[in-house]
Amino acid sequence: MDWIATALGYVLGSIPFGLLLTRMIGIDIRQVGSGNIGTTNVLRTGNKGLAAATLLLDAGKGAAAVMIGRELAGEMAGIMAGVAAFIGHCFPLWLKFRGGKGVATILGITLAAAPLAGAIALAVWLGGALVTRYSSVGGMLAAIACPVAAWFLTGEWAPGWSAHLAMLAALLIFQHRDNLKRLASGTESKIGQKAK
Ligand code: G3P
Repeated sequence: MDWIATALGYVLGSIPFGLLLTRMIGIDIRQVGSGNIGTTNVLRTGNKGLAAATLLLDAGKGAAAVMIGRELAGEMAGIMAGVAAFIGHCFPLWLKFRGGKGVATILGITLAAAPLAGAIALAVWLGGALVTRYSSVGGMLAAIACPVAAWFLTGEWAPGWSAHLAMLAALLIFQHRDNLKRLASGTESKIGQKAK
């Protein structure tokens, strides 16, 4: 059952909602702004509704993967499905393995894994993004908060989550390598800046 949960998680995670939603308004999001398929870049199109939908769906698929895995075969299957969903989001087969950076998805996974830890990570994301005005900084801080909060807050009811979330957070920061270069050179665009 574990492998079925893992495969389902990957397929679910690999659905590129940002790409599909912006296609509906005739935009290829990969040709806009940073080229990323996530919420921040969808926001750069100026369509706040689609950005909100991307956020909810990208987070929702992570949460759904965990819950389906857990339902199918217990907590470890939930972890495997969550990890697979995150990998599917970042490396989707259908997009030649060029997917997103995983912020919304790790938040959804953490909310399903350990709701209080997820809520803390969500607050860190919002706070980090609002204070710095850089979505990428908020996202990376939130990703670090996921395993740290899970580690502090989870007990036996969520075995193994903090270690797996730490692995996902490391992958998420790797996916932000271009953002890190832009932050270092002062060329990262701030929240609210539309795509040129
Ligand atoms: O959710 C991704 C965000 O952290 C950065 O997105 O488009 O600025 O590279 P972007």
